Amino acid sequence: MRRLSRNVKNQTDQSHDVETAKTEEHETALKSINFWINGTLYTVGPEYDLTISLNTFIRDGPGLKGTKVMCHEGGCGCCTVTVTIPDLVFHKEKTFAINSCLCPLYSCDGWQITTVEGLGSQRTGFHPIQDRLARFNGTQCGYCTPGMVMTMYGLLQEHRIPTRQEVEDNFGGNICRCTGYRPILDAMKSFASDTTSQNGGCIDIEDLNKHLCPNAGKPCTQCEKAHSQQAHSQQAHSQMAQSLQAYSQQAHSQQAHSQMAQSVQAQSQANSQQPHSQLAHTQLAHTQTANSQQAQSQAHSQQARSQAHVKKGESHAKHVCPGLHIERHEQHWYQPHNLQTLRKIIQENADKRLRLVAGNTSVGIYKNEGPFDIFVNLCRVRELFTVEVNPHSVMFGSGLTLTNLITKLKDIDEMKQTNNEHCYFSQIVEHLKKIGSVQVRNVATWAGNLMVKHDHPEFPSDVFTPMAAVGAKVHIFDTKDGSSTSSTLSDFVNSVDMTGKVITGLELFQLTNKHKLRLFKIMPRSQNSYAYLNAGFLINIDAWKLQVLGKPSIVFGGISESMMHAEKTESYMKGKDLTDAIMMKHILELLRREIKPTKNERQPSPEYRHDVAVHLFFKFMLEICDKQLKTHKNDSGKTDLLRPISSGRQAYDIIGEEEWPLKQGMPKLTAALQASGEARYVNDLPHLSYELAGSLVLTALGPAVIEKIDASAALALPGVVDFITEEHIPRTGVNNYLRKEHFDMKPEEIFCSGTVLYAGQVVGIILAETQAQADAAAQEVEIEYTDFYCPLLSIADAVEERSFHDLGLTPIIIGNPAAAFKDAKLKTISGECSMEPLYHFYMENNVALCVPKEDGMDVYATSQWPDQVQAAVSQAIGKPFNYVDVTIPRLGGAFGGKLNGAANLAAATALAAYKTERPVRCNVNLNTNMQFNGLRFPISATYKAGFDQSGKINVVEVELILNAGHTPNFASTIHEIQSHLDSGYFIPNWHISAKIAKTDRQGGQPMRAPGPYPAGFIIESVIEHVARALDKNPVEVKELNLYRDGHTDINGTILKNCTLPRIWKELKKSADIRKRIGDISLFNKVNQWKKKGLTMTPEKYGVFFLPSGYQCQISIYALDGTVSVSQGGVEMGQGLFTKVAQAVAHSFQIPIKMVKVKPLTTQTSPNQGVTAGSSSSEMCVESALKCCEILNERMKPVRNKNQSATWTTIVSMCGQENIDLSAQVKVKPQFKADQIIKYHSYAVSVAEVELDVLTGENQILRVDILFDSGESLNPEIDIGQIEGAYVMGLGGYLLEKVIYDPDTGSVINNGTWDYKPPTTKDIPIDFRIKLLSLSPNPAGTRSSKACGEPPMVLSSGVLFALKQAVDVARKDCSLEKHVEFVTPVAPFTVEKAQQGCGVCFDKLIV
Ligand SMILES: Cc1cc2nc3c(=O)[nH]c(=O)nc-3n(C[C@H](O)[C@H](O)[C@H](O)COP(=O)(O)OP(=O)(O)OC[C@H]3O[C@@H](n4cnc5c(N)ncnc54)[C@H](O)[C@@H]3O)c2cc1C
Ligand code: FES
Ligand code: FES
Repeated sequence: MRRLSRNVKNQTDQSHDVETAKTEEHETALKSINFWINGTLYTVGPEYDLTISLNTFIRDGPGLKGTKVMCHEGGCGCCTVTVTIPDLVFHKEKTFAINSCLCPLYSCDGWQITTVEGLGSQRTGFHPIQDRLARFNGTQCGYCTPGMVMTMYGLLQEHRIPTRQEVEDNFGGNICRCTGYRPILDAMKSFASDTTSQNGGCIDIEDLNKHLCPNAGKPCTQCEKAHSQQAHSQQAHSQMAQSLQAYSQQAHSQQAHSQMAQSVQAQSQANSQQPHSQLAHTQLAHTQTANSQQAQSQAHSQQARSQAHVKKGESHAKHVCPGLHIERHEQHWYQPHNLQTLRKIIQENADKRLRLVAGNTSVGIYKNEGPFDIFVNLCRVRELFTVEVNPHSVMFGSGLTLTNLITKLKDIDEMKQTNNEHCYFSQIVEHLKKIGSVQVRNVATWAGNLMVKHDHPEFPSDVFTPMAAVGAKVHIFDTKDGSSTSSTLSDFVNSVDMTGKVITGLELFQLTNKHKLRLFKIMPRSQNSYAYLNAGFLINIDAWKLQVLGKPSIVFGGISESMMHAEKTESYMKGKDLTDAIMMKHILELLRREIKPTKNERQPSPEYRHDVAVHLFFKFMLEICDKQLKTHKNDSGKTDLLRPISSGRQAYDIIGEEEWPLKQGMPKLTAALQASGEARYVNDLPHLSYELAGSLVLTALGPAVIEKIDASAALALPGVVDFITEEHIPRTGVNNYLRKEHFDMKPEEIFCSGTVLYAGQVVGIILAETQAQADAAAQEVEIEYTDFYCPLLSIADAVEERSFHDLGLTPIIIGNPAAAFKDAKLKTISGECSMEPLYHFYMENNVALCVPKEDGMDVYATSQWPDQVQAAVSQAIGKPFNYVDVTIPRLGGAFGGKLNGAANLAAATALAAYKTERPVRCNVNLNTNMQFNGLRFPISATYKAGFDQSGKINVVEVELILNAGHTPNFASTIHEIQSHLDSGYFIPNWHISAKIAKTDRQGGQPMRAPGPYPAGFIIESVIEHVARALDKNPVEVKELNLYRDGHTDINGTILKNCTLPRIWKELKKSADIRKRIGDISLFNKVNQWKKKGLTMTPEKYGVFFLPSGYQCQISIYALDGTVSVSQGGVEMGQGLFTKVAQAVAHSFQIPIKMVKVKPLTTQTSPNQGVTAGSSSSEMCVESALKCCEILNERMKPVRNKNQSATWTTIVSMCGQENIDLSAQVKVKPQFKADQIIKYHSYAVSVAEVELDVLTGENQILRVDILFDSGESLNPEIDIGQIEGAYVMGLGGYLLEKVIYDPDTGSVINNGTWDYKPPTTKDIPIDFRIKLLSLSPNPAGTRSSKACGEPPMVLSSGVLFALKQAVDVARKDCSLEKHVEFVTPVAPFTVEKAQQGCGVCFDKLIV
């Protein structure tokens, strides 16, 4: 194979080529692209902005709303689709998953794209993946679900029968905030060759592209019609495959032309049969279009489709032409086919802002680059896709994606192994597999990655570090003079000016088998994350003498912009004898001095990065000097944590069969619709005539005063229509979106009127024809500020400045704490703990759609509180409530985060709609959502506890400070914290005081278990501290203090039916606690650098019922007996609608499929409270049962007369007798005046964690939960809630950290790049859930108990288990004489864990 550099001719030759290319380009360049979505051909010319994403096209063009969008950053995976393209490296057609949000539409030329609609639907039958995900209960809110389906589909296309490990490795790029992943992984692993599932099994190759017959539930082989459709589709597919392959190999040949033409013909036949294309057509037909770009786009796609039918052959003939040039508004998109045409384009546009486009994934990180005049897509430049294997090196073309590179490295590695040659490629492969996600790696090129590092030297590139460590060289083509050069990676980043240049290849050289390589990547979470720190160490060593031969390579990423190689240490090590312990120490000391991390708010502290950098090298040295190791204890330093395949067990008793389908375990009724993408969310509602898109403009800093707002630049941008601010609030309206009647809320402005309270406050809303235009324009609104103060952000800031909200809080005193502390027999400890804010991270961002109508306004909002939205809108536009109709179809998650923010958004959008008299949809992007929407309240607590020698706690004093931000709204959460501080422990004496810090940041919003989550954390801190002071195992101390029946709790309630001691005892036995504690102790003794911890966490959770109650209206249709239910609860993934349907089906004794629960509207369900607090499902079920009772009573006379008649006959007779078959009821909870807690939920968990002391990395080995959910209304859904809440909770305890800019007060990490909720490999490796047997709850709905929020509290166990490991490590690895109890801080990140160990440099002995 020729070397790439030799392909580049001398200058004279090239000028000839350029000329030829020029002629070729001008003569034949295509002006449009062709691609297929679910088999339908689209031809697109210059109608769209050249930066439009495939995702926007899919959703707004053919209107396929199953593909979701959330982050636009490649970080969440809900936008995943698969693409089939010719792979120029492997010369075959490949199908794989990509993030459609990052993919430019214009790079899709010739692609075949499959969206979730292309797999299956309720009408045609679901695809096996959709079906299994639904059956395995793998969906809650369903917003992530289509992305999960498509990611799996992509995997099955690549590996028809993957292993469980391959399945698990595939999902790093898909975030689910609801389920906790276990059921999703179980569903997907059921397709694996080594599946352990009884309900799954591999899928036949020929069935992969088939859906299941809706009648038979098997692949549609029986059903003739489906079969013939499928056959057509497959025929088209295979012809397409042939033609695409032909295209890739013979781009210029006539043969390809004719094959293409054939494929189109076949495809068009298939299209006419295919149900999903019908769906697309139907949806489009419903879409009303107008003089907007949206309308243009839809009109165009219709036109595109008709072209597909009319000009079949023609469009394909065009398609195989060599170049592509699309021009729009002086911007150009090129797609050259060879290096010379590329050169010409770059040369001709030397004075323009030019962007080479490869995978385009870097826009997920560096979003604000540009604008660009010229885009040059490299995906067809043939010379960039070669791989040359030479005797001493291998050259990889720059067009190789990371996935291609990984595959090629593996192939070559295998080849070399068989030739008995040493090769290090497998280690590089393992490192590259840690970059981003499968979807990102499938399109991201290694060259693009290196260019990102080149342009942003602070970027901790995972291509740069390993490649620099092994001495790779990058080859560069200069389009100015046609020369080709190569350089080391350091030189490339430090000194090569890349203007007018293109990376063409990466050369990896052969190493001897004396070379030892080790690569590291330390991340804030287990996968799909940038590196806090990465490192590559290469040493050439005489293995027997341990003598360093030549200069080693010591490379770090994440230290500073300038530091790449540790050059001094590298030079010093040359020739050194590593058996010499003093020498070894000297080397480490030198490195220690050489590493100087810079401070950066986004990164962990310089201290951590410094220590870990040294420790990583220490690990490497331990490995190198393996045979010389003095102690086995040191062995544990060499290795990394290994994560086996995860598994879960779920157990519950089958009960209440007489009440079925109530109490029957079943997945959500809409699970399959969510998996097929047919479930609709607010942003999926079709676009309307004259609809405008809105984008919020926020303050960039605060507190300050707005001097001037200048929107002229924004308004001058194409498509921008208006800018709405507080000036546009009508005379009758009010600039306040809150109501005092709602929990005594203080006013908050819809649009800032001048005084800025915090960064992220809404100033106005930009309106444009498309969302992209509106979002871009919002960035252009210039705001000038005066009187800017450095913001108070933390509790410490507020304390220092004595800045507090006055809520009139007085200390709560229980028993006699003062006297108890005087008891001389008691020991005391005191300490502190704190919890930082947490972002709810629901997958569906806030959206509002406001549609003016003749006598009012329709509002579609993502709110869990429709009433609040109605009030906010009516107040904003100054109209009565009956002018505003709010509908909430369903929510893509909420967790408490869709309250005030959603109301603010709805009010702002309504004002825009009111002023323009046009429908306005404001789909808030993730970055804006994280800025303006309130987060979970940060809390700090200082405590003092008195206890006896046994560990029995007699008294606790706590001072709480809650950081409320600029407003005290929702700060009453403090009462919930106070009332849950006891959690699972009986402590007779308490002194609890509280303050509300007033800071300059957005107000807080409650988040799942708003009070009990921090409360549990605080009391666990106290009790673990007590155990530590007594040198006892915390499990022992906790058991001693557990609540029992008859105890009076912190709220004065005498506990009855307290199942806590029983749960504790059962779990202690089933989880084998005694033995495991012994094993851990032994493990910790023999391993210096790995430690384990285990703890048990009990909880008593007070479930309260919102006083407003919930309404339910049921209508029975007399002619067919089906039932429609409207009720006051919002479905947001918790399964409320399913439980209501189960209740109705049970009460009427009808099949559940006859019941439909309708989306909530304020017309049918007025004056409803917020859906929150775990108990909404139960209360809605109660209302539904009551409503059914009324209807059953009305039908009773007819029933009595016709006892053997069926349901349909009875209702039909009732209809004939004119009996009212519709009823409405509102059930309100009955309270004693001072008691809103209706009953207690009890549970215990066990968490076991392993820690790498040198890096702080950790993993959750096992979690057991025994949960009392009474007689669960639906055990499958409840187990899903328990798992989901636990995993969400552990995110807050270990991973998720919100970073504020200390100067401006804005949230810095407002996206998926550096805000890290848990992914599939952050969950417990072994996750066991059991519902407590025989535990009916007399106070609950049909003996059930709530379980949506309580499990969050249990998750603090992971933090304390980890902290125990840290405490043990501290004893072992630090030089402190008296080892302090490390302060519990949430999140206890890898940084906190590692720094908590206090590793002393002197202990690093090789
Ligand atoms: C969600 C996500 C997670 C990620 N995680 C990681 C991670 O863990 N570790 C890590 O190291 N990286 C990570 N990345 C970064 C990713 O690896 C890079 O974005 C990607 O490799 C860039 O390649 P691309 O083909 O997409 O380049 P593009 O985005 O298309 O281009 C990037 C830059 O390179 C230029 N360019 C592209 N090709 C050439 C060429 N041949 N010659 C000259 N210039 C060229 C472009 O003009 C542009 O300036 C992540 C990215 C995302 C979106
Ligand atoms: S929307 Fe594409 S990855 Fe998040
Ligand atoms: S079900 Fe996955 S995000 Fe809601």
